[in-house]
Amino acid sequence: MSPLHVTRTLPEDATQAALRADVLHGLTATPKSLPPKWFYDARGSELFERITELPEYYPTRAEREILLARAGEIAAACRARTLVELGSGSARKTRHLIDSLTSLEAYVPVDVSESALTRAGRALIGERPGLRVHALIADFTAPLALPGTPGPRLLAFLGGTIGNLLPAERARFLASVRSLLAPGDGLLLGTDLVKDERVLVRAYDDAAGVTAAFNKNVLAVVDRELGADFDPDAFDHVARWDAEREWIEMRLRARTAQSVKVPALDLAVDFAAGEELRTEVSAKFRKEGVSAEVAAAGFAFGHWWTDAQGRFALSLSVAR
Ligand SMILES: C[S@@+](CC[C@H](N)C(=O)[O-])C[C@H]1O[C@@H](n2cnc3c(N)ncnc32)[C@H](O)[C@@H]1O
Repeated sequence: MSPLHVTRTLPEDATQAALRADVLHGLTATPKSLPPKWFYDARGSELFERITELPEYYPTRAEREILLARAGEIAAACRARTLVELGSGSARKTRHLIDSLTSLEAYVPVDVSESALTRAGRALIGERPGLRVHALIADFTAPLALPGTPGPRLLAFLGGTIGNLLPAERARFLASVRSLLAPGDGLLLGTDLVKDERVLVRAYDDAAGVTAAFNKNVLAVVDRELGADFDPDAFDHVARWDAEREWIEMRLRARTAQSVKVPALDLAVDFAAGEELRTEVSAKFRKEGVSAEVAAAGFAFGHWWTDAQGRFALSLSVAR
């Protein structure tokens, strides 16, 4: 059985420095915000897995339905020998793809969550002996150096995670993804689609409160890593649809006026009662938007598949 290779592209102190910079910038800005990548410590990754099983959270089931139906077509179109997956998480859905990619020699999952990467990597190695699994602990919004595995490559970005990037960040991200690929390599992109507001809001505000716990987990991360004294119970979880920008926003709303200390930054942050901290944007897409964005980044937009209910799309584009 091949061993699991795990590479940390950023030393731990650089991760700490990035967290400090993001917290300082986000908590002193108006309105206040924090980037979603900091949700995903071991507890956050576990909470996200629970979200994927909630009745209200349709994206995972819809994307799995498409992968199950189309994995053979995807494999035939790209004949990849290396599969790179950004924000791979548990990589549970990815197994369907890996099973169909008969020429596959290497799988390169990339994630900020070390716990998710090692768990997924070990499970895969057990199931698919001979597959080289080279996990990268890395931030996909920063420049990436991929291991020297054989082409052609298929780069998958599933789960609708691309919607967590703001439009300008998305354009930069897609251009950097293109620069990692050679002409003819594939980009498999999962995008959640614009739909009824009630369905969207419910997906981010479930009855069991798992998404609320996930949202508040970012405060626990800042408390643990930077010695802050956020009280997660002093904030309410908010999920709101922005119809103009066509994105869901997750926020944390201060129940009362409060001051939060962040000793590692020598910072005190005041919240007014009802003030909201934005923790995630999740953009929803239309076919025209996705095709224009991937084309602008240097891809030929190819296949577009949706689930039977038209809730979620997978697109396969080819690097030009
Ligand atoms: C919404 S989850 C999707 C997980 C999985 N792909 C799926 O479809 O179920 C986002 C994943 O991306 C990872 N992630 C978020 N921001 C990241 C970043 N900037 N760099 C690398 N990984 C990131 C998280 O740890 C998490 O595993």
